[in-house]
Order: sequence, then C-alpha cells, then structure tokens
Amino acid sequence: MYKAAEDRYEKMQYLRCGKSGLLLPRVSLGLWHNFGSVDKYENMKDMIHTAFDEGITHFDLANNYGPVYGSAESNFGKIMEEDMRPYRDEMIISTKAGYDMWPGPYGNFGSRKYLMASLDQSLKRMGLDYVDIFYHHRPDPETPIEETMEALSDIVRSGKALYVGISNYNSEQTRKAAAILKENHTPLLINQVRYNMLDRWTEEDGLQDTLEEVGAGMIVFSPLAQGMLTDRYLNGIPEDSRAKRNHFLHEDSITGELIEKVKKLNEIASDRGQTLAEMALAWNLRKDRVTSVLVGASRPAQILDNVKFIQKLEFTDDELSKIEEILK
Ligand SMILES: NC(=O)c1ccc[n+]([C@@H]2O[C@H](COP(=O)([O-])OP(=O)(O)OC[C@H]3O[C@@H](n4cnc5c(N)ncnc54)[C@H](OP(=O)(O)O)[C@@H]3O)[C@@H](O)[C@H]2O)c1
Repeated sequence: MYKAAEDRYEKMQYLRCGKSGLLLPRVSLGLWHNFGSVDKYENMKDMIHTAFDEGITHFDLANNYGPVYGSAESNFGKIMEEDMRPYRDEMIISTKAGYDMWPGPYGNFGSRKYLMASLDQSLKRMGLDYVDIFYHHRPDPETPIEETMEALSDIVRSGKALYVGISNYNSEQTRKAAAILKENHTPLLINQVRYNMLDRWTEEDGLQDTLEEVGAGMIVFSPLAQGMLTDRYLNGIPEDSRAKRNHFLHEDSITGELIEKVKKLNEIASDRGQTLAEMALAWNLRKDRVTSVLVGASRPAQILDNVKFIQKLEFTDDELSKIEEILK
C-alpha cells in the first residue's frame, strides 16, 4: 500500500493563486498524455505517487484526455480508489470541458447543457464528489459568454467544484469572463494557457498583465513545448518519444533550426548547472507572473528531473539576454 513521503511539503514551494486563498505548487502534473487506456497502468500510478511525494499536490485533467476520451479520468479514479483516497484533502484536482467529447450538438464548446452534463460524467469517472477547479477549456465563439460563466458559477454553488477557471482565453476574453464571474459572486481563479520559450503569445497579447489586474492566477501548459525544450530530441527522434508516437507533436516540428536553438539553450543550462528542462521551467517563473508550471511526463524519472529547478530559479541579466538572443 502506498504511503506518501513524509518530507513531501519540505521539497516544494507553493504560491497563492491570484488574489484567492488557494496555494498551488510551483509544479503541477498534467494527465493529457500517458494516462489513457492505451498506456501502462502501473507507470501512471508510479507517476502520481512520485509527483505527490515531491510535494506536487495539483493534478490536472480534462473530460477528453486519453485516448480514449474519458480514460485518463477513469484511470485517475482507479488510482484514487486504490491508494490516494486518504490524501484527497491534500490534493487539488481539476478537470475541464470545452473541446469535443461526445457526438451530437451537446458534447462540445460552451453551453450550459454541455458543461453541466460533462462535469457530472467526469465526477463519476473519477469517483469524486467534487473537483477543486472546473475549467471552461476554450472560448466558444457562438455561445454567449454570460451563459458559460453563469453555468460555472452555478457549478460552484452546487458544490461540484470549489473554484472555476478558464483556459485558452485571450486578454479581452479574460477581462469579460472575470467581470461576469465577479457579478455572479464567483471569482475567476485562474487561466490555463500555453507559455514557453518558443510560444510567448500571452506576453504579446497583454494577457499576463490582465490576469494580474483581475486578480487571477496563471497556470502554464506545455512549459517544455511538449518535450522540445528538453534534451529529448538533441540526437534525433527517439522511438518512445511524443513526436514519434503522437499526433499532437509532429516529427516535422523537430526541424534543424529548432535543434540549433535547443543546443545553444542547452549550453546555457549546463553553465547554470541545470538540465535544459530545468532551465526552461525556471525561465517560465522568472517574473513571478506564472503561478504554476503544468508539466507532462511519460515516466517517473522525468517528474524527478522537473522538480529540481526549484532549487535554482534566479537568472542573471546576462543569461536572460543570451536566451533572448537565441530565441530571436
Ligand atoms: N488547457 C489546454 O488546452 C491544455 C493543452 C495542452 C496541455 N494541457 C495541460 O498541460 C499538461 C502538460 O502539457 P504537456 O504534456 O504538453 O507538457 P510539457 O511538460 O511541455 O511536455 C511533456 C512531455 O515532455 C517530455 N518531457 C517531460 N519532462 C522531460 C524531461 N525531464 N526530460 C525529457 N523529456 C521530458 C515528455 O515527452 P515524451 O513522451 O517524449 O517522454 C513529456 O510527455 C497536460 O498534461 C495538460 O494537463 C492543457
């Protein structure tokens, strides 16, 4: 029977999420890949235990994570049942709805019908009474945003989620969502967006400033650019890598030009005494705008690598300008 490491809270740092009372670990674990029905159950269980032992209290899911859709939630539910149940009150579990989930007009986007039904399904699959954070997964160009936000507020009032978040909303959409949620007395907790050295749209769009203004936190997905900002592809494309196995990262994204940049970044990382993954994660937190980096992993060892960076978060001006030069 799993017993959590006693020193787990000494290893991790926790930061308050926006103006809320909720502390999130600086590193969270996402279950988008490697937790589906096609993956090895014992490996996923090891990853959850490894993460929790390192002080990672936050686990991020969505209705359609798998494949097949729903299977990451079912597998996570099984792990909860087998040995994480005693730790439920020490965990922040999130799920989402917003992308394609079931056939017909009610299994996608942002209607009240979809969000309410989807969360009920997610709770059943995970064997939970409530999630800590429920997200609208992406903006819906057609459903009135008032309807989507009101559904989120009602979900909180029903007790099925403690906090609400949005994901992939830009600055303007975030401002609108936050204002409606505020009127409904349900503060916006967080926005979950992609941010890494290779994708800086949240800086250009002004989203990072907006989140600070509205008092919401920012959790960053794909902080390692799905593995491109690690040593994974420095010597070719390994058979067991995401780029080989998965259609979300294409082999042709691993270009010669990218690898040139990654090699140079890797040199700066090693001068800092870090792996490239560690440096890429520390870089995300350099301005204290990001509450938590939401990493993915295919094996427990990657999780252990990915928490080490907390020991060295600072950058010199010289390092930062060298990194900017490489990323140009
Ligand atoms: N809200 C949204 O729309 C959205 C979208 C995408 C993701 N997310 C969330 O964000 C989470 C993380 O996304 P992500 O998986 O793309 O994050 P990521 O951390 O950028 O990429 C994870 C992948 O990088 C490789 N990797 C990780 N650590 C490594 C290390 N130390 N050394 C070498 N390779 C390493 C592994 O790939 P290999 O398989 O090659 O080993 C791993 O599966 C997801 O699980 C999900 O919860 C949300």
